[in-house]
Amino acid sequence: MSENTAALQMINIEKYFGLVHALRNINLEVGSNEIIGLIGDNGAGKSTLVKILTGVFPPTQGEFYIAGRKVNYKNYSVKRAHEYGIETVYQDKSLGEKQPLWRNFFIGRQVTYPLGFINVKKEKEIAREIMLNTIGFRGRGITVDSKVNKLSGGERQGVAIGRAMHFEAELIVLDEPTVALSLKEVRKVLNFVHKIKEAGKACVYISHDMQDVYEISDRFVIMDRGEIVASITKQDISLKALDEFLLGYAQGLKDKEHS
Ligand SMILES: Nc1ncnc2c1ncn2[C@@H]1O[C@H](COP(=O)(O)OP(=O)(O)O)[C@@H](O)[C@H]1O
Ligand SMILES: [Mg+2]
Repeated sequence: MSENTAALQMINIEKYFGLVHALRNINLEVGSNEIIGLIGDNGAGKSTLVKILTGVFPPTQGEFYIAGRKVNYKNYSVKRAHEYGIETVYQDKSLGEKQPLWRNFFIGRQVTYPLGFINVKKEKEIAREIMLNTIGFRGRGITVDSKVNKLSGGERQGVAIGRAMHFEAELIVLDEPTVALSLKEVRKVLNFVHKIKEAGKACVYISHDMQDVYEISDRFVIMDRGEIVASITKQDISLKALDEFLLGYAQGLKDKEHS
């Protein structure tokens, strides 16, 4: 990908669930090394946008490009999203609980010998490299053979982010990654997002914690009832002003007529 190709470009995306118009005329561009804080009240459409992006379901209308490649909905899926360069961490227990860590790094993309056998030695080697250099799990008693269910919530997020960084994801999508975490673990996740930025990658980060979002984002994209209603770069707004701005939407002060 060249420096100036956007990691993501969404053009006129619409999504209906039956009669519910969940996304309305979404136009969103994420730069190749941009961290976007996607914010908005419950039901604003944030997760719906992310699910379209990550191949959970297609939009009703519109198109999008990942690192300049147009996504073809006919063969787009969660697995295909990896190939396009999208990585995400699902809130549910998507990491195989009883699997050793090294296996987890290769879900959906095994390193195989020419005949198709899994190259365990090679996979462990790569997993070890990711843990040391990408995630920085050094001397914490966690090895590539540790079971996933021994990891804390923050460490799991770290594994997923490390996987994304190693496999050169263009865009890492995190939908409320810190909801169930302790403060210490939240700190780890925020540090991972800083690493995404340093690694030259892009991220869409969704959270209700404005202080966290403010810290890591380059730009805030605000959604309200299915629409993007504002895009504000960090230089242009203080945390306090952002909070007040959002409160306006939360209280319905910025009501719009949809006729
Ligand atoms: N699978 C679904 N089926 C029907 N309605 C849905 C589905 N997913 C989301 N919605 C509706 O779409 C709207 C946006 O939801 P969502 O994207 O989850 O919002 P957010 O993540 O911002 O809280 C809500 O009105 C929600 O009820
Ligand atoms: Mg959501």
